[in-house]
Amino acid sequence: MQRLSRGSQSVRQERPEKEPEDKRQDGKQKMEQGSTDEALTEQKAMAGEALDRRNIWEPSVYYALGKESFYFAGHDISIRESMDTYGALIWPGAIALCQFLENNQQQVNLMDKAVLELGAGTGLLSVVASLLGAWVTATDLPDILSNLTFNLLRNTKGRSRYTPQVAGLTWGQDLERDFPHPSYQYDYVLAADVVYPHDCLEELLETMRYFCQPGSGTTLLWANKIRFQSDLRFAESLKSSFNATLLTELPQQEVRIYKATAKE
Ligand SMILES: C[S@@+](CC[C@H](N)C(=O)[O-])C[C@H]1O[C@@H](n2cnc3c(N)ncnc32)[C@H](O)[C@@H]1O
Repeated sequence: MQRLSRGSQSVRQERPEKEPEDKRQDGKQKMEQGSTDEALTEQKAMAGEALDRRNIWEPSVYYALGKESFYFAGHDISIRESMDTYGALIWPGAIALCQFLENNQQQVNLMDKAVLELGAGTGLLSVVASLLGAWVTATDLPDILSNLTFNLLRNTKGRSRYTPQVAGLTWGQDLERDFPHPSYQYDYVLAADVVYPHDCLEELLETMRYFCQPGSGTTLLWANKIRFQSDLRFAESLKSSFNATLLTELPQQEVRIYKATAKE
């Protein structure tokens, strides 16, 4: 897991043959079961009264073991969703950041870079980073790790330069114990849709600061659907301790992608 041992851990595997031309033209994201948004709309319609008792932006039904298919970085990716938690579904920030990374490989070159993902959920973003050549550590709460591991392994085995790692990481907790500096240092920290109404925003910011220390050269890429004023307030807080710039905004998806490095 440590950056210094990256070389010894990595197994360089043969690159798979190129996809046939017609397949590559199929479109970047192939959603066999419709987009997450469409699925959620349908679930909300089905949920009827239950909607009234929940926040309107939340999925009203966490359906069982759904599967979503995508096409990124030259590969079909199949993600198993799971039940009952926020980390069980693929969120729009993850899809937007995958698309951004694929389309901007010169601007953000992940080849042979050490990448940490916070709140990885189902793992789509970590899968794509891994397929783009990064040495990835995907992290989330302990309950999420089993499905995350499943998705990472099934989509990267025999396809990625480095076998992705999975680690438990609760924001703000035991960072120095579990990820001591300077052994655990990353080129990029990725975070998608980790900002929404929850009680750990301060801990999340602290975790971002911990992994992006001044002088570390670490770059944070944070993608989020902007739902509330509180999301914009988080962006303002980020700007107070980071040099943060808005990389892109996707008006249709209401997603913003920020790039940030620690202020010296
Ligand atoms: C809205 S989901 C986004 C999942 C994924 N990044 C995506 O975009 O599909 C938020 C993620 O943050 C994780 N999370 C929430 N609170 C957390 C905490 N205190 N520490 C670590 N992870 C947390 C959840 O388990 C979940 O995977």
